[in-house]
Amino acid sequence: MPFPATRLRRLHATPVLRGLVRETRLHAEDLVLPLFVQSAACTSSGRTPIASMPGVERLSISAAVQEAGAARALGLPAVLLFGIPEHKDPGGAGAYDDEGVVQLATRAIKGAHPDLLVMTDVCLCEYTDHGHCGLLRADGSVDNDPSVELLARTAVSHARAGADLVAPSDMMDGRVGTIRAALDEEGFGDTPIVAYSAKFASAFYGPFREAAGSAPAFGDRRAYQLDPANGDEALREALADVQEGADVLMVKPALGYLDVIRRVKQATRLPVAAYNVSGEYAMVKAAAAAGVLDERSAVLETLTAIRRAGADIVITYHAKDAARWLS
Ligand code: PBG
Repeated sequence: MPFPATRLRRLHATPVLRGLVRETRLHAEDLVLPLFVQSAACTSSGRTPIASMPGVERLSISAAVQEAGAARALGLPAVLLFGIPEHKDPGGAGAYDDEGVVQLATRAIKGAHPDLLVMTDVCLCEYTDHGHCGLLRADGSVDNDPSVELLARTAVSHARAGADLVAPSDMMDGRVGTIRAALDEEGFGDTPIVAYSAKFASAFYGPFREAAGSAPAFGDRRAYQLDPANGDEALREALADVQEGADVLMVKPALGYLDVIRRVKQATRLPVAAYNVSGEYAMVKAAAAAGVLDERSAVLETLTAIRRAGADIVITYHAKDAARWLS
């Protein structure tokens, strides 16, 4: 029935009516807070601000335990750990060291907050002196298969430290299957894999690379991360990860890739996580600081849009603020 029988404004009339017909809801339970943990002593508070990401800090292990407790108290279900090691080398040995920064932080956080989920980023780029996500060949290209072996060692080491979920972000081929087999072999058959399946070679990782000190020393990541122009290929990556045993699929970044989130969800029906990345966070913070956006409405609208596109889980540096605003 066309207008005037149909009047869509009828259901917009009051806040209660709008709430009744709202299709997408945002809860603290949907959000994951990333944490940067560093092993070297920083300030006496154990917190070093990250200039490009106001409100985000590099944390000592004890500050990370505090921050994890604050996240839990706000109703967030999980944190995602990134490590900043003291030493880097060509093989990224710090990534799979049982006494590495993520392993130590995982044990400390699980010890203090056993019901908070600890998810760990599995990658070599924060641990290699060249900043690439895998081992280099003599010509400077990333050597896929030996890198995958080290990523599997890293994932097992995280699981042994108590990680509840492991999240490989390297974009090497075949890593999900190899990690699954290694976890199963080592007795971690119940540890889920959150695969960064559709991770695009994006300009929006800039602030993260400053935070984690993981910018590639030469070249870029386009030989392994996805071309921002490719949606069908993103779907092939996701389907390959499903076949290899991924439990959750991730799309990253979120905002420029809402169509990919929707397509991955529709094609797989697996839980989908979207990573609202550092550059997306930095833009909102900069605009809010300049007085051109209302931060609270912009953040809640953005996170709702990511959920509406099809994401079940949103990884975001806004998680604590959003949880406060939603409570
Ligand atoms: C790589 C990794 C990156 C991010 C998460 N994991 C950076 C990259 O690929 O260069 C980016 C996260 C963000 O920008 O918030 N281990």
